[in-house]
Amino acid sequence: MSEFTNDVGSDPVRPLDHMPKLSSAELRRHQQTTLDTPRRRYGPAARILFAALDLVYGRARTLSKFKVLEVVARVPYQAWEQVAFVAVTHRYSRPKFARRIFERAEESRHQQDNEMWHLLILEELVEEEGRRESFLRHRVFPQVLAFSYYHLSWLLYALHPAWSYGMNADFEDHAQHEYALFVQENPDFELRSYDGMFAEEYGRFDSIADLFRQISHDELVHKEESLTRLREPRFR
Ligand SMILES: [Fe+2]
Ligand SMILES: [Fe+2]
Repeated sequence: MSEFTNDVGSDPVRPLDHMPKLSSAELRRHQQTTLDTPRRRYGPAARILFAALDLVYGRARTLSKFKVLEVVARVPYQAWEQVAFVAVTHRYSRPKFARRIFERAEESRHQQDNEMWHLLILEELVEEEGRRESFLRHRVFPQVLAFSYYHLSWLLYALHPAWSYGMNADFEDHAQHEYALFVQENPDFELRSYDGMFAEEYGRFDSIADLFRQISHDELVHKEESLTRLREPRFR
């Protein structure tokens, strides 16, 4: 059952205006805290997804592999937004409730936008590296993965939203940790600044290391948002 079929006991949800941007010192602290914090106990769907990624792209953390992660990262938010819009269509006769659903849809759009900047920045960095990517592994397979993940997110959300939020929290937790480890494994990331094509929209960073620490922090914020939704009383 959709979470929008019942409006009992829920408060209006304020959409994110923007993602919090941290100072360099705060970003370093965030990375360390992430490295010191155990991962969530991932559910079966997330485990299968991460195993499939390791199988196709190898266990090593690479820009190309993160790009695939970001292609997939947006789709739960697209699925939730779509369900919210359908819900508004059915509930507009109750303007107060419809407004709250719309705010939830708006929140999903902000998160999609944030994931899109991650994806575009990664694409930019992969191009800078001049690495040739296989059409099948790096174009076709990510689309197939995203298509499947979209439908799974949509289905879980339609059946029981907490399941979809839980799966997304697993995904975001994984991304948060993977970016933190990626920075740790690549000390040379400290030596290069980021002032690239998307700096205007996403931010300028003293180092690529800080850029990835910031992305890792965004993933933490996404995870916490999903966990907040998950803990809302009607899901217990
Ligand atoms: Fe992301
Ligand atoms: Fe994310």
